[in-house]
Amino acid sequence: MSLGRQISLVVNGEKVSVLVEDHWTLLRFLREGLALTGTKEGCGMGECGACTVILNGKPVNSCLVLAVEAEGADVKTIEGEGKCQDEGTPHLSPLQQAFIDHGAFQCGFCTSGMIMSARALLLKNPDPTSEEVIEAISGNLCRCTGYKPIVEAILDAARREKSGAAKR
Ligand code: FES
Ligand code: FES
Repeated sequence: MSLGRQISLVVNGEKVSVLVEDHWTLLRFLREGLALTGTKEGCGMGECGACTVILNGKPVNSCLVLAVEAEGADVKTIEGEGKCQDEGTPHLSPLQQAFIDHGAFQCGFCTSGMIMSARALLLKNPDPTSEEVIEAISGNLCRCTGYKPIVEAILDAARREKSGAAKR
């Protein structure tokens, strides 16, 4: 029987060290090991994108990554999104606010993963075209919205973040 392994990594800017089973996915580690339940499990097979988090700057399906593979990594989840703009004070980010303003979710099950894919895009490309947004969320399935409000929300968030950055 496996005794598990201690892994240390940075999650949403905070250093954590947790004992995990060798077979645990990063998704399970986040939800059960850290009680960060904002990351959702949909298919559990890398097909729906509901479990998307940002691992060392890149969006990944956390159901396909073993927790032990994330040793020493930098991970960002939806719980870190609200505080990414402002020294740890929880509040909605422009991206989250734009999703609300554009009605970019209904049941909301895809939303955490969708926002993390969008965040990964905006981190490397703060001024994307609609085609680039569509490409960035191509691995995230939404059964409710028809995608149009999601794409509009992400483009609007990019504009809001740009004008916010210009004012600072
Ligand atoms: S739960 Fe990971 S891709 Fe669907
Ligand atoms: S809002 Fe329901 S799956 Fe996307």
